[in-house]
Amino acid sequence: MTTIAVIRGDGIGPEIMDACLRVLDALGAGLSYEFADAGMTALEKHGELLPQDTLDAIARHRVALKGPLTTPIGGGFSSLNVELRKRFDLYANVRPALSMPGTKAHYENIDIITVRENTEGAYLSEGQTLSADGQTAQSIVRNTRRGAERIVRYAFELAEKRGRKKVTAVHKANILKTSSGLFLDVAREVAKAHPTIAFNEMIVDNTCMQLVMNPWQFDVIVTTNLFGDILSDLCAGLVGGLGLAPGANIGSAAAIFEAVHGSAPDIAGKHIANPCALLLAAADMLDHIGLVEHGTRVRDAIRATLAAHDRVTPDLGGSGTTETFAEAIVQRLAA
Ligand SMILES: NC(=O)c1ccc[n+]([C@@H]2O[C@H](COP(=O)([O-])OP(=O)(O)OC[C@H]3O[C@@H](n4cnc5c(N)ncnc54)[C@H](O)[C@@H]3O)[C@@H](O)[C@H]2O)c1
Repeated sequence: MTTIAVIRGDGIGPEIMDACLRVLDALGAGLSYEFADAGMTALEKHGELLPQDTLDAIARHRVALKGPLTTPIGGGFSSLNVELRKRFDLYANVRPALSMPGTKAHYENIDIITVRENTEGAYLSEGQTLSADGQTAQSIVRNTRRGAERIVRYAFELAEKRGRKKVTAVHKANILKTSSGLFLDVAREVAKAHPTIAFNEMIVDNTCMQLVMNPWQFDVIVTTNLFGDILSDLCAGLVGGLGLAPGANIGSAAAIFEAVHGSAPDIAGKHIANPCALLLAAADMLDHIGLVEHGTRVRDAIRATLAAHDRVTPDLGGSGTTETFAEAIVQRLAA
């Protein structure tokens, strides 16, 4: 029996998490759950956004499935998700973009994994200042050899484990000769240690164009924090948007799996939220803890349900609810 920490989250979080756990229970993968609170739910129940008990539960079980969290404005953290990444040094942000049937995507047969460095670089906006006259803004871009090495190594190891063929390092080393140059140098070095995986490098602006013109050339993309933030959303757009986009934040001590979308306060409590992004994150979590067969079963059941357009939620053009959608997936698991 493997126990995972489960944070149901805010807004639509509890609805989609309950649907997701229903599917996981039906799988019979031998999972048990320790529930923990974060976000607005935690603030209301325990008086703080990120209680120590929640951090302890994640540390104890090393794997968490997390619903979306609402960060209240002026709550002390710029973002709870960024705070969790910092606390657990979750250095790899892994975002698969996988085509699913029955979506409004413009492309088919996309299968790209973006591996984004999650702990340094321009995205951190370290040392942000604005001059007194309001005319000059600046921040520091700090990339380290250690940071670049561990993320590129992670991308190659993931490629090897998942039977992928190619890793593309995305950079802007032609202009950002030190910050992006260091990343590229390290990527080239690490690539030499993984001769069974093809390696290529691409400048970020060209990558954007290539992703739109010929996305099938990509397999695993590895890049720095800010470029990864942008490119992974571009990839989500290729497969129909955030409704089906899972994400994982992975470190050596813990891994947190979640949907990419937020707590959707506009539809919370209406039972029409699509549970698939969280469920796809749960499938990736199953892969991560070595239950790859179960992860594949979940993805296959989602794919079959979407293809049949069976009881799917309104965002996908159906008239189902979060619960009936989960029910349809559960039935296909049993088939
Ligand atoms: N990982 C996270 O915890 C996370 C990520 C992003 C935003 N947030 C938080 O979520 C809150 C709302 O943010 P937002 O409105 O900008 O983005 P959002 O992703 O919550 O919603 C954007 C739009 O997409 C729709 N949507 C989102 N998920 C859906 C689903 N599963 N099924 C159907 N429709 C769905 C919403 O109804 C809304 O119209 C904010 O407090 C933000 O900080 C949290």
